[in-house]
Amino acid sequence: MATIPTVNIGILGLGVVGQGVLKHLNRNRKLLESRLGVKLKVTKIAVRDKSLKREVKVNPKILTEDGFEVVNDPGIQVVCELIGGTTLAKKLTLQALKNGKTVVTANKALLCEHGNQIVRAAKKSNGHIFFEASVAGGIPIIKSIREGLVANRFPRISGILNGTCNYILTRMQAEDKPFEEILKEAKALGYAEAEESLDVDGIDAAHKAGILAYLAHGKWISMKEMLIDGIRKVTTRDMAVADAMGYRIKHIASVECDAKKNSLFVGVYPALIPKTHILGRVDDVYNAVCVSGDVVGTTVHIGRGAGQDATASAVIGDIADAVFSVQGAELMNLIDEENYPLAASSKELRVAKLDEVISSFYLRISVVDQPGVLSQVTAVMAKEKISIARIVQDLDNNGTGKGRGSAVLTLTTHRCSESAIAKAISGLKRLRPVLSQPFLLRIADFND
Ligand code: NDP
Ligand code: HSE
Repeated sequence: MATIPTVNIGILGLGVVGQGVLKHLNRNRKLLESRLGVKLKVTKIAVRDKSLKREVKVNPKILTEDGFEVVNDPGIQVVCELIGGTTLAKKLTLQALKNGKTVVTANKALLCEHGNQIVRAAKKSNGHIFFEASVAGGIPIIKSIREGLVANRFPRISGILNGTCNYILTRMQAEDKPFEEILKEAKALGYAEAEESLDVDGIDAAHKAGILAYLAHGKWISMKEMLIDGIRKVTTRDMAVADAMGYRIKHIASVECDAKKNSLFVGVYPALIPKTHILGRVDDVYNAVCVSGDVVGTTVHIGRGAGQDATASAVIGDIADAVFSVQGAELMNLIDEENYPLAASSKELRVAKLDEVISSFYLRISVVDQPGVLSQVTAVMAKEKISIARIVQDLDNNGTGKGRGSAVLTLTTHRCSESAIAKAISGLKRLRPVLSQPFLLRIADFND
């Protein structure tokens, strides 16, 4: 009888995700091994502090506080990078690839910031890097775009990519609880990043959108080329107003490619989504990605976007691919920017300018409640040729103005450019009766 080969795995990081991977590798080991035709052995795990008590049982002899011991171990074939951050994680990932290891990572920040360098390093060493868990948690969206939907060009990919933001917005809407309290719960559930601003300020979703843009169009878009906004300033009043207008407020990511203009837009922001659209109905920690392909039409992918188990599922899916690659299977490889076939048409893609990015908008403006204010506000909008769709005025009892004698104006616009609305906001800020920075939300306009 032929002996079954063993694949040795090294894990960097044993936090929320690392422990999930270990737990489920152990739990489903027999099933996995029979599906993959190999024995799987975790032989070394790096942590920051070996003395910490863990939720999962782990042999203390395989723990180390030096990640390089893992990536330089000649017996290890597959390295899972689950530390996070971009400094040590980058060094360890590059070293592992240089040493000929196959790398699995859940680290979207690392890929968004250094993806091209990492993909090149993998190619140079004839290795592979897998990163299914880096986008949309347990949803196999990377595999779907790279493999199942490979026949398509992708004019638009949009979705909810941050579980923490979706969890917070859903709970705010349902329970009218303060933002900070819900964020604490999201942390306790293992959804939030160690640095919370990555989630609530839109940075984590931007990292993920950058990865999707690369997969779909072969171009790494830097963070400063994206439009990035978070959810800190969304209030339950905004939610109530949006609800009355037929919308939910969701944090969404959008990757839009205009093949005629050869332009690519990547943005992440809180937006009003029609309640009737599928994205308006995806709640809690769930993510959803709507992928529009020129061949397939629109496909929608939904699942838990954060947390230990969903993420472990994606990482273990990558471990399976890593095992096949270690066994010599020919897998679809990643391509660095220079060698990527032109994505949109015959010319190189460029980043869309803000006057080409068109949307409808929601504006909340806190003003002094006095005669003539409305006409000053509409005059500013008219100057930028922005047509107002609706205006609602409430006396301010929600702490957003300066108390007595103030009011909140909420207006929505017809479609106009990002640059026009930005100029209008500057104009509004200069008006004396305007009490604070106007708050802007985009209104998503899905035609599918
Ligand atoms: P945690 O903070 O829970 O875990 C990080 C782990 O890395 C800890 O075990 C920590 O060790 C270890 N670590 C930190 N610094 C070092 C170091 N210098 N040397 C060795 N080990 C170190 O993070 P998560 O598990 O939540 O996230 C890990 C990665 O997965 C991140 O890139 C994150 O963005 C990504 N991700 C997370 C998801 C989630 O839902 N949490 C979902 C999808 C992706 P120690 O335990 O000793 O402190
Ligand atoms: N903090 C991330 C989120 C983890 O909430 O979506 C999953 O990538």
